[in-house]
Order: sequence, then structure tokens, then C-alpha cells
Amino acid sequence: MLQLTDIHAYYGHVHALKGVTLKVPEGAIVSLLGANGAGKTTTLNTISRLIQPRKGKYEMAGESMMKKSTSQVVKSGIIHCPENRRVFPLLTVEENLLIGAYSRKDKQVKSDMEKVFAYFPRLKERTSQKAGTLSGGEQQMLAIGRSLMGKPKVLLLDEPSLGIAPLLVKEIFEIIKSINKDGTSILLVEQNAHMALEISDYAYVLENGRIALSGKSKDLKNNDDVRRLYLGG
Ligand SMILES: Nc1ncnc2c1ncn2[C@@H]1O[C@H](COP(=O)(O)OP(=O)(O)O)[C@@H](O)[C@H]1O
Ligand SMILES: [Mg+2]
Repeated sequence: MLQLTDIHAYYGHVHALKGVTLKVPEGAIVSLLGANGAGKTTTLNTISRLIQPRKGKYEMAGESMMKKSTSQVVKSGIIHCPENRRVFPLLTVEENLLIGAYSRKDKQVKSDMEKVFAYFPRLKERTSQKAGTLSGGEQQMLAIGRSLMGKPKVLLLDEPSLGIAPLLVKEIFEIIKSINKDGTSILLVEQNAHMALEISDYAYVLENGRIALSGKSKDLKNNDDVRRLYLGG
């Protein structure tokens, strides 16, 4: 459904992506692993077109996205849930969710909010609470919920486990699985390789802006290099 072929991207003179090829098939969870600074966030920013790819091919459902704007990418069904759960701290939970539906003109916004609350009952209990007063894990749930309000076909998740209490991480990963079961394809960026390989179908490992390894998640779990470098032995 979403496919990058030999994508290059730069920050000024810094060559951050040096030929990234990956695909997210319809219905799959694909994880993108790699150390800090490997280029994971840059890859997601390139997909959502916050960064211009300079070379390569980028297609969504067979259509080239190389010359599209960020809002056109959103319209094609690619929704980016950024790093560090950027919610609007002074707005309520409900207001944050409504912002996620800003590009929609249909009338199902209210019922979709109920769907978000079905995934995240914690948010329903806190609809009128200011987002800034939620715990880190709850803010992450809100960030994911806000992305769901944009009706993603492909959801890009950047490090949903970062800085969150282990119990909530487990809960969030379970919810990511059910969002996928309900029909949303997911590209999951993670430093927590254990959790990511557990829930994904397919995985890529980025090193220095290049895909160093890829394969079925269950095979990568048993790969010696992956075990040594990313799974702690
Ligand atoms: N805004 C920026 N300007 C210049 N260099 C950047 C910028 N953002 C990231 N980089 C560099 O690009 C590389 C990849 O970063 P990033 O995609 O954030 O890695 P990851 O998400 O895997 O930790 C790093 O070397 C980083 O220092
Ligand atoms: Mg990052």
C-alpha cells in the first residue's frame, strides 16, 4: 500500500537518508527499528512530507507522493503520530481529539470519537481534563486517539513507548494491535525492539540512514545480530 524505493533525504548538507526502501502492505504492522540517530523519525517525516525527499520513489496505493504536499498526503490516508506525544497541553482531551478531525468534512466525527474512547477508556473518563495534566502514557494515548480521528489507512507511530511506564506501554501495544485488526495498516518506529518485533509482521532495521536488515519479525527475533545489538543478547 505504502512503498518507498531508494529514498534520499537531507538536512542542509547532512545526508540523513541514504537510499531507504521499505513497504507497508495493506493490513500489516511493519516496524522500523534502529538506534538513536539512525534516521527513523526522518523516514516518517519524509513519508508525511514534512521533509522533501530529494531522490527515489514514494508511492501510496499506486500513486506517486513525491510531489504532494503534507495535506495531500493526509488526504491519501497517511496520518503521522509524531515523536514525544505532542498534544496541546492547555486544550482538553476532547478539543485535542477534534483537532485530529480538522481535515474532515463528514458528519461522523462524534461517533468516531466514541470509537477512540472504546480503544482508550482512560480518555473517556477525562474528556474535559486539560491534556497537559494527563500522565505521559495518557498523553500518548491521546496523541494516538487524535491520529485516529483523521481516519488513517496507514498510521505512522513514532516511538509510542518512549518515556512511558511499562504497564501503560503494554496497554498501548495491545491497543495498537486492535487498531490494526480493525483495518488500519501501521508503520511503527521503535527503540523498544522487543515489543515491536512481538506485534509486527515485518521489520526493518535502519543504521545510519540505510536499511541494514529486514525480514519477518519472527525471523529477526532469532537473528544473531538483532539479538546482540537490539535485544540485549
Ligand atoms: N532538524 C535537523 N537538522 C539537522 N540534522 C538533523 C535534524 N533532525 C535530525 N537530524 C540528524 O539526522 C539523523 C537522523 O535523525 P533522526 O531521524 O531523528 O533519528 P532517529 O529518529 O532514528 O533517532 C541524525 O544524525 C540527526 O542528528
Ligand atoms: Mg526519532
